[in-house]
Amino acid sequence: MNAYAPYSKFQVGAALLAENGEIIAGANVENASYPAAICAERSAVCSAIAQGLRNFVAIGLMTSGAKPAWPCGICRQVLAEFAPNMPVYSAGNSGEVEMSTVAELLPKRFGPDDLP
Ligand code: THU
Repeated sequence: MNAYAPYSKFQVGAALLAENGEIIAGANVENASYPAAICAERSAVCSAIAQGLRNFVAIGLMTSGAKPAWPCGICRQVLAEFAPNMPVYSAGNSGEVEMSTVAELLPKRFGPDDLP
């Protein structure tokens, strides 16, 4: 994976499957100003949107840690904007894979229906 994670050394790659069959890659990109980092999931979503893709079927995550890790809270909110019921697969570097869904990871989310 092409993560840029010299500070945390925790590398994350994302593979976002679009409805048209394209797979859009994402990676975490850190910065010397730590809060400027972007997660792999959001980098994949932003790349897909910039390519004109908005309909997603699934996302796969791979990290440099041993165990599967789940998207952070901000990424859950961003994934839910486009694919609230999408499955999320996560693999650690031991090969163990787990599956959840965006809805399970972010129940009772704030969404477009909540806006006035
Ligand atoms: N990270 C991700 O890329 N995705 C997540 O869902 C959790 C965290 C990244 C952000 C940062 O570069 C590193 O992992 C450590 O937090």
